[in-house]
Amino acid sequence: MANPFPQGLVIGPRLMLNGAMAIDLGPRLKSSIDDALHRAKMAWKAGKSEEAAANFESASELMFKFAEYAGARDLEYQRKRKAIEYRDYARRLRETASEENARARRGKQRVIQPGDNVPPPSDDPPPGLRHENISNKSTGEIASAVAAMVHNSPLTWDDIGGLADTKLDIKYTLGLSLAKPPGELKMHTFRNILFYGPPGTGKTILAAATSNALKSTEASATNAMFFNVKVSGVMSKYFGESTKIVSEIYGTARDNSPSVVFLDEFESITGKRGGDEQSGAERRILSTILSELDGLSEKGRGDIYVLTIAATNRPWDVDPAVLSRFEKRILIPLPDAAARKEILDILFTRRGFQTSANMPEVVNMTEGFSGRELERLAKEVTTKMIREMNRDLPAVVDKGLANARSYEVKIRPVSIDDWRAAISRITPATSSADMKRYLEWNDAADDA
Ligand SMILES: Nc1ncnc2c1ncn2[C@@H]1O[C@H](COP(=O)(O)OP(=O)(O)OP(=O)(O)O)[C@@H](O)[C@H]1O
Ligand SMILES: [Mg+2]
Repeated sequence: MANPFPQGLVIGPRLMLNGAMAIDLGPRLKSSIDDALHRAKMAWKAGKSEEAAANFESASELMFKFAEYAGARDLEYQRKRKAIEYRDYARRLRETASEENARARRGKQRVIQPGDNVPPPSDDPPPGLRHENISNKSTGEIASAVAAMVHNSPLTWDDIGGLADTKLDIKYTLGLSLAKPPGELKMHTFRNILFYGPPGTGKTILAAATSNALKSTEASATNAMFFNVKVSGVMSKYFGESTKIVSEIYGTARDNSPSVVFLDEFESITGKRGGDEQSGAERRILSTILSELDGLSEKGRGDIYVLTIAATNRPWDVDPAVLSRFEKRILIPLPDAAARKEILDILFTRRGFQTSANMPEVVNMTEGFSGRELERLAKEVTTKMIREMNRDLPAVVDKGLANARSYEVKIRPVSIDDWRAAISRITPATSSADMKRYLEWNDAADDA
């Protein structure tokens, strides 16, 4: 096996990508971006808006990938801003193209001229088309902060164990919001979903999989844009600017529809509950959030879809006015035995590890564990086994890089005693009393 960590259990897939492949892929991505930009520019000059848009879109997708390879955070943000900018060009070029088509349909055939609706590209990359793109719509710092929140997640539904009903529910919600209604039918769509439940049960990875589900499979269209917003970070790091950040997030999300805005640690949006303690800044951000959740800016715009997913493990701390905007509140509970089995399958078996233990027995011993605790368990039990099996590894490392690289990691099936030892070292964080509080909360919130 070329990679010493089987299936990247110890280091996540993204990190593995960064570490192991960054060196080879980085420059190749860069030159693909340059090619796409060049093609976009040529097409634009030839008045081919559609083709230019498609090329800006590929440049944007590639730039998002390239951003993942940036060693420094500043560089990552810079690249993500560029990526957003290219998407913005593509969107406006597509608008131009559809105007051209409409005109053609009306019989007033007229070929679009360079500079018709969009200013000419400058030679300085990113090429032209500047008027009200993100960089001059707001201050650089805010645009960078928002660009840094854009993520492309590789997670899919298959990476999530259990929660079958929740997955279905989300698919219905997405499907009905994006599908074509028959005739003039005005369907009710859900725009705001709240995930609540104990820590480590999969709220964040569900949101990531949701955004990935909106991935485009057509060559000509882009993926849904996913904004991963840590609310506590926005509140503390950009205090005072928080309102502008929220508006910028939703503005960019609308410009890049369809998009998903994920508001993690949502309870921090209102700080401590109890009106007196709210500062002016907190009230301002609250009212901004409320109007964004109401979707006032997109009313009557069937073509814009921004889905907000908020997640919290302290739902009772969320302001009631904010809460009432979430028609859909989904409890993400601790996994039951069947779900724990699926999660261990994903985190252990599917990564290529084997066990001599009876899996249902192991699953029974993990009652009360969250997904995150099962992840820790899988990590501990495999890491310990690997260390034991490779006691000669430190000496090989002493001999230098080439030796370490050619070393093949030895493994053996994990025994029931290994599982027992690892399980005994983990204390579940959520008690059954805590779980009961979650189960009872939603009814109580509705009655309030
Ligand atoms: N249902 C699940 N299937 C597979 N893995 C899971 C599941 N739930 C949790 N995990 C594992 O636990 C980790 C943490 O999950 P996640 O970040 O989604 O929890 P969370 O509910 O958002 O927690 P918190 O409330 O603390 O933010 C995941 O990265 C994943 O490895
Ligand atoms: Mg989370």
